[in-house]
Amino acid sequence: MSHPLTAPLAPFVEALPVPRRLVAAVHEGRLTVRMRPGTHRFHRDLPESTIWGYDGTVPGPTIEAERGQPVTVEWRNELDGPLPVVVTVAPHAADADGVPVQCVPGLSGGTADRKAPALAGHTVVHLHGGLTPAVYDGWAENLFAPGQPAVFHYPMHQRAALLWYHDHVMGVTKLDVYAGLAGLWIVRDDHERGLGLPEGPPFEVPLLIQDRNFDVDEQGRLIGRLVHKTDPEVMEAFPPFTVVNGKVWPVLDVRPATYRVRAINGSNARTYRLVLLRDGAPELERITQIGTDHGLLRTPAPVPADGLLLASAERADLLVDFSDLAPGSELTVLNTAAAPFDGTGFQAADAESVADVEGLLPYPEVLRFRVAGDAVRRRSIPRELATDYEPPASRALARARRRAIALVERELDDEPNMLTMRELAVAADGDEDGRLVTVTDGDETTRYRVVAAHFEDTTTFFPVLGEYEVWQLINLTGDTHPIHLHLDPFQILARRPIRYEIPPGGIGDRDLAASINLERGPDDELNHAIDDNERGLNDTVRVNPNELVEIAVRFTTYSGRYMYHCHILEHEDRDMMRPFVTMPAALMSFMA
Ligand code: C2O
Ligand code: CU
Repeated sequence: MSHPLTAPLAPFVEALPVPRRLVAAVHEGRLTVRMRPGTHRFHRDLPESTIWGYDGTVPGPTIEAERGQPVTVEWRNELDGPLPVVVTVAPHAADADGVPVQCVPGLSGGTADRKAPALAGHTVVHLHGGLTPAVYDGWAENLFAPGQPAVFHYPMHQRAALLWYHDHVMGVTKLDVYAGLAGLWIVRDDHERGLGLPEGPPFEVPLLIQDRNFDVDEQGRLIGRLVHKTDPEVMEAFPPFTVVNGKVWPVLDVRPATYRVRAINGSNARTYRLVLLRDGAPELERITQIGTDHGLLRTPAPVPADGLLLASAERADLLVDFSDLAPGSELTVLNTAAAPFDGTGFQAADAESVADVEGLLPYPEVLRFRVAGDAVRRRSIPRELATDYEPPASRALARARRRAIALVERELDDEPNMLTMRELAVAADGDEDGRLVTVTDGDETTRYRVVAAHFEDTTTFFPVLGEYEVWQLINLTGDTHPIHLHLDPFQILARRPIRYEIPPGGIGDRDLAASINLERGPDDELNHAIDDNERGLNDTVRVNPNELVEIAVRFTTYSGRYMYHCHILEHEDRDMMRPFVTMPAALMSFMA
């Protein structure tokens, strides 16, 4: 622990809000959601904040849909006035006392960005995890100005799962989501109902976990104004206050019963590693994970021994057993992940002493459960959950198209770093000019050339509908990146350690020289394992430093132009995003 700070807000004094439910079937599948400014109190001791929210609330309403029953949403853009977030880059990474400025409220000497207030409400909505036709998927450049409504059709031909909808505007997703434009979307189906899992309140509890920071007045008192602050050394915002369903460090009264907790990380950049503690000791065995991003796992899984990792956009469907607890018992959820996250472990048993300003984690508090009321019969956990998917057969994978993407951070003078996804294509024989990426696996070496680096570069990925593809995500940076694919989910095939060298000047604007070996480096302490709770259908995967992650994806639904990107919103906005175009097989031979 270093420099513990005294929290300026009292933890665990306010009840966890549950977002308003908007059940599509009640409205014959036709919904209207207004995007508009609103006011919101993030904590009882904070003044009201101005926010942008779906229906003017933070979070937006939780839309509940039924598999196979289409939902049409008229997204009415009624945003008005300037962006309700002060955006600043503080001049120094730490204040006079050596405390990182991202750990404290206020602007820390930064000036308010003058261009941000001019963001007067252009928006586009993306349903994250949705199997959605491309025209309704929320392409980052297809914006709607205030007064221009968008009517989006969501077929809902997809498994029961917790999805979420959020803003996706090119270059400023980080600011629009931070201002409040995010909400949950639950798909339900009969298979899941057949398992007798809790559905709706009080035993099903959604948790949208985010982090926020606020401005201060001349006396240093917190005012409600939202602040997006970065510093010269860390380009991502890692605000100090954890907000769950819109409240800083809330408390939930639970009965002695089994709860279904549906957790999602909706933060811009922060990764959480959640630990459940009672009297200071971890009790992670109370938690059984039953689902991931795209719904149920095949069998229940424990959460990892260090805690439940959730990077931005990752979801976990959890059964949490409080049934043996006496009224008055308290369980606290803490976050043990330092920021920026790089995969480093942290023992759950040490969670109480995790507060660490250097790790941009001044307040590890997330949420508290307080047991009250009468016991309810304990629920048994079904031993078999999903039966509708299997790990892809090796025969299908042997034929699969393979793609490789290097994740690269390019340092720039006088400008924040640029993060890009370098799409690699196998270099032609005789292609020898040195700007190549070599990947060596045992005695086999593949030579690649970068064929695309920035969002606006030409499209190079044209997956064929119905066919498996294997994508390799190769992390050549020092941080973990949660990579998200739109449209169909994928399965994680492998996490492999790599060691690599990038020659001086090797990272160009569009090219890259690197030699990568599929072997563990001498100082690499990460275990590069796939956890049991990752063996499901996912749309976001953490790619750790010194790691190559292999995923199998098969697009099955719609043809069109989609995106994949890092879900750290500051990375997505500063170029860690690329298009891909799904195509029916019959059309491929006609493409020039
Ligand atoms: Cu949650 Cu393309 O995003
Ligand atoms: Cu990233």
